[in-house]
Amino acid sequence: MSTIPELIAHKRSGLTHSRADLEQLILGYVAGTVPDYQVSAWLMAVYWRGMSAPEVADLTQVMARSGDMLNLSELAHTVDKHSTGGVGDKTSLVLMPMLAALGFTVAKMSGRGLAHTGGTVDKLESIPGWQSELSEAQFLAQARDIGLSLVGQSKNLAPADGLLYALRDVTATVDSLPLIASSIMSKKLASGAQTIVLDVKVGQGAFMKTLSAGCELARAMVSIGEHAGRTVRAVLTGMDTPLGHMAGNSLEVQEAVFTLQGRGPADLTELCVALAVEALLAHDPLAQTAVSQTAVSYASAEARARQVLQDGSALSKLRAFVQAQGGDPIYIDHPERLDVAPDRAELQAQQTGYLAGLDALAVGQAVLALGGGRERKGEAIDHGVGVEVLKKPGERVATGEVVARLYHRSGRGLETAHNLLQEAFAYSEQTVSVPPLILERIGEERA
Ligand code: URA
Repeated sequence: MSTIPELIAHKRSGLTHSRADLEQLILGYVAGTVPDYQVSAWLMAVYWRGMSAPEVADLTQVMARSGDMLNLSELAHTVDKHSTGGVGDKTSLVLMPMLAALGFTVAKMSGRGLAHTGGTVDKLESIPGWQSELSEAQFLAQARDIGLSLVGQSKNLAPADGLLYALRDVTATVDSLPLIASSIMSKKLASGAQTIVLDVKVGQGAFMKTLSAGCELARAMVSIGEHAGRTVRAVLTGMDTPLGHMAGNSLEVQEAVFTLQGRGPADLTELCVALAVEALLAHDPLAQTAVSQTAVSYASAEARARQVLQDGSALSKLRAFVQAQGGDPIYIDHPERLDVAPDRAELQAQQTGYLAGLDALAVGQAVLALGGGRERKGEAIDHGVGVEVLKKPGERVATGEVVARLYHRSGRGLETAHNLLQEAFAYSEQTVSVPPLILERIGEERA
């Protein structure tokens, strides 16, 4: 067995670790026998030297096994979805019931929001009565009965990731591809689903700034999944602009329900359909054999994904899911009854021309300033505040036209939010061409 300084020197020289090396280092760190300063040095060596594909796969499995591994083996057609983070990203609220309606089982752990990003649990908690605390038996039974259950992330899910992430944050080693890929995938592997669909965001507000970097990350995560016997596919999406029109918890639930009613914004609908298609291409719950599974074409998968939006079956799944977890389904039938902050302020266009950009990060920070997000873990949030974006990049506007609406409570954080939003909109005198939302698809054999 090597000493820890030998392992650090090994990586510093650009050599490859064995699984046993990684267990020694990572499990030692979780147990408290390997100190922060040695792991910090090792992280920096990884940052510069990188890792081979089998090595990242081993690292991820060691991290996944550092805590509880959720056993979903008694459930059929399990699927999980992950987004690398977005503003106004209510995709999970729409996609989960779509997948359940398509015959998948979604038994998912979701986090809460931090800083400018929202969390699915926070969004769902804007539905009166809905709660994320289920025993493991309830969680599995509900998944079996209605195909959809969701709990808050267990504290013991991939604890190595929590510790490593905190250390990366203070040692300038966050933006390392093998470390990001292993961090995301360790939690997905520990969460137990057989099929995993990833939404990898690309853009100024995302971890991956360019399409090529995003593709590299997506390929690394697909490969990690394959090594662990899971099927993983990824869609790369632009995230310079918030998805849909709403940012803020209750507002996003309303928009998600409208989308499940077939009257949602085009970008959100398009992304949810694209992710559902990837799930079907990875694993079709209706196919009985591996042979018929490969026969699913993109076109037929897309038609099925659109069908569950049009025929109301995905909406019925959301209603059943909300009710099963204590929520009042009246809010799914009448989403306009959800508590939305009563005070409104408007933001007007600064000039006549075309909207050239809308900084998603600034919109997220505006919601945070209004009280709709938390700066620190455990803080209470106001579910009713938020921002409605009325004009998106590419659209023509005239000076003084309302481009966004702020939903606030008695002016709390309004001035800061207003200023952030003012800066978030960019204008151009020329017409603006908007890049496509779906930039690339990565996965196994392409249908
Ligand atoms: N999300 C994660 O969970 N981990 C990272 O390292 C980056 C994004």
